[in-house]
Amino acid sequence: MAYPYRHPKEVRLLSEHFGDPHARRLEGWRERGGYRALEKALQMGPDAVIEEVKTSGLRGRGGAGFPAGVKWSFMPREPVKPQYLVCNADESEPGTFKDRELLRWTPHQVIEGCIIAAYGIRAKQAYIYCRGEFFETTRVLARAVEEAYEAGYLGKNVVGSGADVDLTVHVGAGAYICGEETGLMNSLEGRRGQPRVKPPFPAAHGVFGMPTTVNNVETLSAVPHIVLNGGSWYRQWGTEKSPGTKLFCVSGHVRRPGNYELPLGFDFRELIYDVCGGIPGDRALKAVIPGGSSVPILTAREIGCGLDYESVAKAGSMLGCGSVIVMDETTCIVKQVRRMVQFYAHESCGQCTPCREGTAWMTNVLRRIEDGRGREEDLDALLEVSEQVTGTTICVLSDSAAAPVVSSIKKFRDEYLAHIRRGECLAAAAAAA
Ligand SMILES: Cc1cc2nc3c(=O)[nH]c(=O)nc-3n(C[C@H](O)[C@H](O)[C@H](O)COP(=O)(O)O)c2cc1C
Repeated sequence: MAYPYRHPKEVRLLSEHFGDPHARRLEGWRERGGYRALEKALQMGPDAVIEEVKTSGLRGRGGAGFPAGVKWSFMPREPVKPQYLVCNADESEPGTFKDRELLRWTPHQVIEGCIIAAYGIRAKQAYIYCRGEFFETTRVLARAVEEAYEAGYLGKNVVGSGADVDLTVHVGAGAYICGEETGLMNSLEGRRGQPRVKPPFPAAHGVFGMPTTVNNVETLSAVPHIVLNGGSWYRQWGTEKSPGTKLFCVSGHVRRPGNYELPLGFDFRELIYDVCGGIPGDRALKAVIPGGSSVPILTAREIGCGLDYESVAKAGSMLGCGSVIVMDETTCIVKQVRRMVQFYAHESCGQCTPCREGTAWMTNVLRRIEDGRGREEDLDALLEVSEQVTGTTICVLSDSAAAPVVSSIKKFRDEYLAHIRRGECLAAAAAAA
């Protein structure tokens, strides 16, 4: 099967050229319409660029869904000191694998988005902060940046416009916490990647203490399309409050896992059963995590909704970065939750006591339950500790660890009790059947 598998229901704006090696090089990208949006943006002027992105309603794809144009408008319009744009390419959330594909197949799309955004917010320096393990991606990206400099899209006087934009690819060391925007900024400055207290927010005091905007790779990749075709054009997809298309990373128990670009609001069940071909062996669906490991788990009955920010929130979870993890009846929820919390314990930067101690403690208790050595009181203790680590720390890493614990104990209590009372795993029976 050619890479990538394409489904007729997809709307491929950002992912149209995945799998096409010619699109990676500047000439190939230009032949496919690349850098026309940049030329248009430079004619429009920075304020009009911000307005167009505001009109599109584009929301940040890094997890929180904050409107990109509104974020850009927080930046000083008459800079008195240097301003920065940072493209967040740290992508480490379990279940998420879209940004690496955007960078790997369409590096010039990301670079063009960065230049337009930097121009809009009056930043002369942009950074792409890349996750340390992205070896091939970093190589492809560095070559594309070189090409963009040679063609005059980067550097002094970008294509004769009078605007200057430099772009530096910065490779991190592979820490999940460096995806959190203030941890990222510390790491970029050469400090330990520990989040900073907010306020002050990055638009006032960011990288090197200067006004900074941080945006996700997917957010910035949408920008050239919006500038070229208009904000209203982008709104033909998605819902009123969640416009446009979104890359959904689907993993777990589906026949065709992968990245699928679909209009926001797309039917959740249709994604699993049609686009992804359903569950192998036609086994029953047990649970789904809709937005990466840091959001509450939904049961099979709770996914009768659209995949947009509002509908998923109404169903009791979060769209997050659109990373859909599908679990069938053979999945042990206790084990899955323990593995996720263990990940957060490992990635905690250790700065805040509730996070450092709480995530490690929760991992130990979950492991005890999983191994059949748990006590019924452990469940209440887990819920209490989850409450203690939520909203009490500098960043939301520990909130993320608590979300699957709380939702799974509420929704799959019988599975926990079977482990505790009888040392029995209900999923093992389903797997053996
Ligand atoms: C622990 C943690 C990890 C994060 N990791 C990422 C990441 O890998 N990539 C990303 O774009 N955003 C990540 N975020 C969100 C960023 O802090 C920030 O909100 C985002 O980059 C803003 O971009 P957007 O407005 O385009 O979504 C993370 C947040 C937290 C709390």
